Amino acid sequence: MKRFNDKVALVLGGSSGIGGATAEILAQEGAKVIIAARNEIRGGEKAKEIISSGGKACFFPCDVADSKSVIKLQTFIREQYCCLDVLFNSAGILLTGNLDELTEDEWDKVYEVNTKGMMRVAKAFMPMLEESCGTMLNNCSINGIHSYIKGKRSYMYATSKSAAIQFTRYLAKNYAPKVRVNALCPGITVTNLFTNRDFSRFQNVNLLNRMATPEEIAKVAVFLLSDDASFVVGSVIVADGGETIA
Ligand SMILES: NC(=O)c1ccc[n+]([C@@H]2O[C@H](COP(=O)([O-])OP(=O)(O)OC[C@H]3O[C@@H](n4cnc5c(N)ncnc54)[C@H](OP(=O)(O)O)[C@@H]3O)[C@@H](O)[C@H]2O)c1
Repeated sequence: MKRFNDKVALVLGGSSGIGGATAEILAQEGAKVIIAARNEIRGGEKAKEIISSGGKACFFPCDVADSKSVIKLQTFIREQYCCLDVLFNSAGILLTGNLDELTEDEWDKVYEVNTKGMMRVAKAFMPMLEESCGTMLNNCSINGIHSYIKGKRSYMYATSKSAAIQFTRYLAKNYAPKVRVNALCPGITVTNLFTNRDFSRFQNVNLLNRMATPEEIAKVAVFLLSDDASFVVGSVIVADGGETIA
């Protein structure tokens, strides 16, 4: 039995990386997947890949930094699917800098996506999740809990993710038992988030001496979104290769 048969699943940031891998597994498990992100070419290709493997998927453009864009996505899902059962919010960006390099514009840019974007998405879709007694998983980060000894420039990203974790806990408090809300905190995962960055200093930061693949994190996300995790609510789930005890 497929775990998501006939479920409608929205993956924000589903065109790439952890969100992309999660969208693929959700579709393999029977969900009708809506992929949302900004880049229409990349998102369209991901939807086509899923469809050509026998899954159900579509792409809808959405910028979580723009509330009108989020509302358009909500209207599309209401009109085309009538309901929403599963939401994975994996849209996120990484900008780093030393204190003297930080600008308010960059700070705002990170928060608009990683923190306020999460709020916009939650506001737009919580009523639909309440109607379906669905589930929401917010992709936060181990960096929202833990400060890498080797990564000293993560002021904006780390703090935006700490806020996202607390925001998620408050959603869980307010919407349980109807909606199960959780936070996922992956460790370093090889994705486009780090395009043009040197990964080598992260090779030995955890107990497994390697970084995660997007698929490894996606499997955890899919578990948390499934009924197999029916007693998991308001939790901050770490999948970091043992980095925080290493
Ligand atoms: N990779 C890691 O080591 C790691 C570790 C912990 C947590 N995370 C978190 O995991 C999430 C996914 O990141 P990833 O590593 O999979 O990186 P990724 O491959 O770059 O994926 C990011 C996704 O977010 C979308 N996105 C970015 N800005 C957006 C916006 N304003 N509106 C809508 N969609 C937007 C991107 O598509 P478009 O650019 O087309 O919009 C893309 O689909 C992020 O929240 C990240 O912080 C990653």
